[in-house]
Amino acid sequence: MNSPTPAMNEKSPVLVRPTRDGDVDAMLAIYRRHIRRGVEDGVEDNGVPEPNDLRERRRNLRHHRLPHLVATRGGEVVGYAYVVLFRKRPAYRYAVKHSIYVHHEHLGRGVGRLLMQALIDTCAAAGFRQMIGYIDADNAASLAIHEKFGFARVGLLPGVAYRNGRWCDTVMVQRSLGVGARQAPMSFGIPSR
Ligand SMILES: CC(C)(COP(=O)(O)OP(=O)(O)OC[C@H]1O[C@@H](n2cnc3c(N)ncnc32)[C@H](O)[C@@H]1OP(=O)(O)O)[C@@H](O)C(=O)NCCC(=O)NCCS
Repeated sequence: MNSPTPAMNEKSPVLVRPTRDGDVDAMLAIYRRHIRRGVEDGVEDNGVPEPNDLRERRRNLRHHRLPHLVATRGGEVVGYAYVVLFRKRPAYRYAVKHSIYVHHEHLGRGVGRLLMQALIDTCAAAGFRQMIGYIDADNAASLAIHEKFGFARVGLLPGVAYRNGRWCDTVMVQRSLGVGARQAPMSFGIPSR
């Protein structure tokens, strides 16, 4: 996965590769910047992982064959992407839920596209059959990239977030991988937790 795929219109190539422990601080900085957007100062974020938690999670995901990827340009982390199991119960072992975050100074330059393609390819190759995302209904960029990659809008959760002083909806999107639900799965074992 170290192929030097150049993003459009950029001189230095963007590389997509599995994460390393040394990437964690840069990933957290990218995450914090996006997640606080539109939320008042002082509201606690119980979901921000500590660096050590993220290192641990990274190792666990890798161990369970769940991709955890960074995009780098000139050695700098410019985005990251990963999946978790959609649900931990064993029946859901072929469905994953993904996240992609691009550094705010590198938006709109093809980094998200490279990460999305790598995530889809890696998940399909690992035998997963469905990929699911949750997107803020006002997140035009995310809705657009998912549409471009063939995700269908499959659900709407009204009023589940509060940001910029108003209630916001969440859109659920889904895409099949490989043969999707058309054939029985190849057997593989992911621990159910
Ligand atoms: C969504 C996100 C990952 C896109 O990454 P990006 O690197 O900026 O996107 P790219 O430059 O690769 O563009 C890929 C496609 O996304 C869409 N897109 C990107 N930015 C867009 C914008 N501002 N408005 C509308 N569509 C946009 C376009 O369809 C684009 O395809 P095109 O270039 O052929 O038109 C990025 O905006 C991001 O990190 N947002 C914050 C976190 C987030 O919302 N993550 C998604 C949750 S799963």
